[in-house]
Formats: sequence, structure tokens, C-alpha cells
Amino acid sequence: MDVYEAVDSRRAVRAFSDEPVSKEVLERVLAAATRAPSSGNLQPWHVYVVTGEPLAELKRRATARALAGDPGDEREYPMYPADLTSPYLDRFSAAAAQRYNALGIERGDPDRPTKIAALNSAAFGAPVMVFCYVDRTMGPGQWGDAGMYLQTVMLLLRAEGLHSCPQVMWTMYRKTVSQIVGADDGLVLFCGVAVGFEKEGVPRLRTGRADMTETVSFIGV
Ligand SMILES: Cc1cc2nc3c(=O)[nH]c(=O)nc-3n(C[C@H](O)[C@H](O)[C@H](O)COP(=O)(O)O)c2cc1C
Repeated sequence: MDVYEAVDSRRAVRAFSDEPVSKEVLERVLAAATRAPSSGNLQPWHVYVVTGEPLAELKRRATARALAGDPGDEREYPMYPADLTSPYLDRFSAAAAQRYNALGIERGDPDRPTKIAALNSAAFGAPVMVFCYVDRTMGPGQWGDAGMYLQTVMLLLRAEGLHSCPQVMWTMYRKTVSQIVGADDGLVLFCGVAVGFEKEGVPRLRTGRADMTETVSFIGV
């Protein structure tokens, strides 16, 4: 698979089969991903790979919280700016509508937030979760590095025939995640990534994008 194909075929998959992923494959991907760039080569990411019984226990605990309507742990960073404006708000709304349609959750459904939380807390059925933490002392530059690292992981997963879904939602249940992985207080949970093989027979969602000309300016070209 070439890089263009890996980028184009990566999607946030929200229905995984229970087919296990071997440790050998995960190690190959995560070893290759160590080549991700970072400013000053700090490599500021701390990663926990959770599978098997510990993941089953994490899903049970997080799903119990989701179904109880638990608003989640105090956030350590905002998921989005409080005053999201156009064009970001428009893009957010369009993607949310597409996503919930694909998941069969009606816009007017009063249980929508609980249903969404419960799907997320079950990692969409994924047999593996990768949790990426950043040291509390790090700044925006290193958070950017962590994003580059996770995209590298997600593209390498494509080369192995695997899919992924980045999930900021796990920050809602960050204390439950920490209990399972044993992350200390010096680390901030940036994002979880669900990993596995895509479930067959589920409609595939290809989320739209702004045209390149909306976000890219060529100067002197
Ligand atoms: C940092 C990050 C966090 C995300 N968190 C969630 C999440 O909690 N739940 C979810 O269903 N999707 C989540 N997504 C997936 C985005 O909704 C998705 O990437 C976006 O809508 C574009 O769709 P695509 O990845 O399928 O192309 C997240 C993506 C990123 C990059």
C-alpha cells in the first residue's frame, strides 16, 4: 500500500469485528511509528496498548458510567474552543450529522448523548485500544507532535489491513483509563485510538472535507 492509498483509506471506523490483532503486528506498527517527527526530537508521547481482559474491564467500567449519564471527569483540556465559529462550526455540524446518521442515531433522539457515549466507551467493538498521553509539562508544540505520532500510527495500521478511530471521548473517563493503565498524575490523556479490523456489512462513512483552496494558500508558486 502506498502512502496516498494509506491516507485515502484511513477513516474513523466505528464498527470493528472481534477478530484479535496479534502482538507481533502491533509491535511492528509501533516500532515503525517511533520514526514520527517531533520538534527537538523530544518524542513527547507516552503510549499504553490495552487489549484482552484489561480492555474488557475498561469497557465495562466506562460503559457503566456512560449509561448512568455520568458527565465525565473534569476535562484537562477543552475538546473544542467554547466559541466555535464559522467555518469550523459548520464543518463540525456537517460531520456530526453524517456520523450520527451512519450510526443510526436520530438527531432528535433524547438519548442521543448516552447512545454516543456508550458506543465510544465500548471502543466501537475494537479489540485493542491505544492511549496516548503527553507529559503535563509539555506545551502546544508537543501536543502537535503527539498528533503527528498518532497519524503515523493510523497510517501504518492501514498497511497492515487494520483500521482505527481516534477517540477524544476517552478523556471524559480519564480516571477510569488511568486506573487500568496505571498512568501517573504527571501525564495528561490526549487521545485514545480504537484499533482493529473493520466489521463487514456495515455502511462505510466517507466524511467530507473542505476544498483544499479553503485551507491552503500558495505563495510564489
Ligand atoms: C483527536 C481526534 C479525536 C477524535 N475523537 C473522536 C471521538 O471521541 N469519537 C468519534 O467517534 N470520533 C472521533 N474522532 C474522529 C473524527 O470525528 C473524524 O476524524 C472526522 O470526523 C473526519 O472523519 P474521518 O476520520 O472518517 O475522515 C476524532 C478525531 C481526532 C483526530
